[in-house]
Amino acid sequence: MAGQTLWLRCEKKEFERRAALSPANAKKLVDAGFTIYVERDEQRIFDDAEYEAAGCKLVANNSWPSAPTDIPIIGLKELPVSDAPLPHTHIQFAHCYKQQAGWSGILARFYKGGGTLYDIEFLADASGRRVAAFGYHAGFAGAAAGALALTAQKKGKPLGLLEPYANEQAMISDVKQALGGSGKGVKALVIGALGRCGRGAVDLLRKIGLDEDDILKWDMAETAKGGPFQEILDVDIFVNCIYLSSPIPPFLTHERLREAGKDRRLSVVVDVSCDTTNPHNPIPIYSINTTFPEPTVPADVGPGNPALSVISIDHLPTLLPREASEQFSTDLLPSLLELPNRQSALVWVNAEKLYKEKVAEAVKAEGL
Ligand SMILES: NC(=O)c1ccc[n+]([C@@H]2O[C@H](COP(=O)([O-])OP(=O)(O)OC[C@H]3O[C@@H](n4cnc5c(N)ncnc54)[C@H](O)[C@@H]3O)[C@@H](O)[C@H]2O)c1
Repeated sequence: MAGQTLWLRCEKKEFERRAALSPANAKKLVDAGFTIYVERDEQRIFDDAEYEAAGCKLVANNSWPSAPTDIPIIGLKELPVSDAPLPHTHIQFAHCYKQQAGWSGILARFYKGGGTLYDIEFLADASGRRVAAFGYHAGFAGAAAGALALTAQKKGKPLGLLEPYANEQAMISDVKQALGGSGKGVKALVIGALGRCGRGAVDLLRKIGLDEDDILKWDMAETAKGGPFQEILDVDIFVNCIYLSSPIPPFLTHERLREAGKDRRLSVVVDVSCDTTNPHNPIPIYSINTTFPEPTVPADVGPGNPALSVISIDHLPTLLPREASEQFSTDLLPSLLELPNRQSALVWVNAEKLYKEKVAEAVKAEGL
């Protein structure tokens, strides 16, 4: 392969410290013959110098709009809202393929500029499985936030600001310290435990010291009997990590919470799946996404009953920007190495086909 160039842009979303490409994986691309431009970015968890040491060429922050249009631009999150046409190929999460708010306007920018979108959420291998996702660290961080919320609740306080941790170990130490040294004695239930988020949640719970028997791991087999489930009310922390693909009976309801009255162990629900506005949300006991500044929302449990906090943060991996970026870009690397063959490599051919379908829908919707 010769001559492939890639441009890592800065992230503009508040609190976003992750990167689509880590310095270690940038080096692997450089070693394979890529030229990698990296925008200087103070917000990114990795120092600019780490990319320079990896053989990348540093360029000014947010300078990608003036990059040659034949260079693909890689980033993570949505671009700032604008009407400006997009002439480049962008590899990123764009959140516009499921008709989310503003979807057709975003796609219209690509159409007008003659660019292409390869949406990372839809990059899949031959078996249809996503090539790169952030799930593991979402579950890991979500379970940590759940344990912190449990300790805050025991002190009668809401959980305060959550901030990104330098690394996993710092997160584990902080949670253990809040728990008075160990999570031993805490009981948790993870549903979707066999998936990416679920495995991360289970690992965190192990690492903060819960006994293995106190980590209940449920997946499809255990929920097949249909909810609501008493077992959820009998643990301290419930972490929901399922991938909701079709309507299912709810796992937990207001009615069951009220019926349980004071006879309830459950103190914290972490909804990693965050199907908050989905009409089939299996945990219909809250209706907003919570945030790093205000991580919990109280559930309505009926008068006089013990409190129940819900965490429904939809960008949890941001709490572990270093490891999350490292794992994600390692998963993405084989596909990036195929970029020079993107006219024939399945992952890119399918991504472009999907883009063309979606842009055609947007053109119709926008009347272009
Ligand atoms: N909050 C965040 O920051 C964040 C970050 C990443 C992903 N997510 C979300 O987390 C969810 C899970 O993502 P993932 O990558 O772990 O998915 P995944 O496909 O790897 O795992 C999902 C698991 O849920 C199980 N499952 C599905 N339906 C179930 C049911 N009815 N009962 C029991 N188990 C069931 C599956 O068998 C699978 O093991 C997705 O909705 C994703 O969008 C949230």
